[in-house]
Amino acid sequence: MSENLETSIGTKKEQYESLLPQIFALIDGEIDLIANLANIAAALKQQFGWLWVGFYLVKEYELVLGPFQGPIACTRIKKGKGVCGAAWQNAQTLIVPDVEKFAGHIACSSLSKSEIVVPIKKNNEVVAVLDVDSETINFFDDVDANYLEKIVAEIVF
Ligand code: SME
Repeated sequence: MSENLETSIGTKKEQYESLLPQIFALIDGEIDLIANLANIAAALKQQFGWLWVGFYLVKEYELVLGPFQGPIACTRIKKGKGVCGAAWQNAQTLIVPDVEKFAGHIACSSLSKSEIVVPIKKNNEVVAVLDVDSETINFFDDVDANYLEKIVAEIVF
């Protein structure tokens, strides 16, 4: 496995297209979950420079902070709470164009303006979520949802 990430320029779609095979190569053959989550968060941060990108893992009745890149974050989120807890409860990707308009949003950083949360499933159960925060309002769209869902589908839990 190469330990250099080739970051790319171009449209968002082009950036994901270049990044995805590299992420798959990074996690291919590595069975340790935390190592893979850590490298995925780092690769996404390196390519896109988002404010915060990382994982929360379902542990019993809560989401607990996992590997991430960015400022320190809240460690535990209950089911249904915040954007992460809502994505967990509904088992669906949630795009929030303006976090201030999302009732119950948990502000880990006052710099966060928009957010996308992608649930990760095993045997049809949500086992984790991928959370991404941007300092720019209305930053995430279906392109992000589509590619981030493809990335998390490759993670072996
Ligand atoms: N904003 C999230 C909390 C996690 S942080 O953004 C890292 C939420 O409302 O669930």
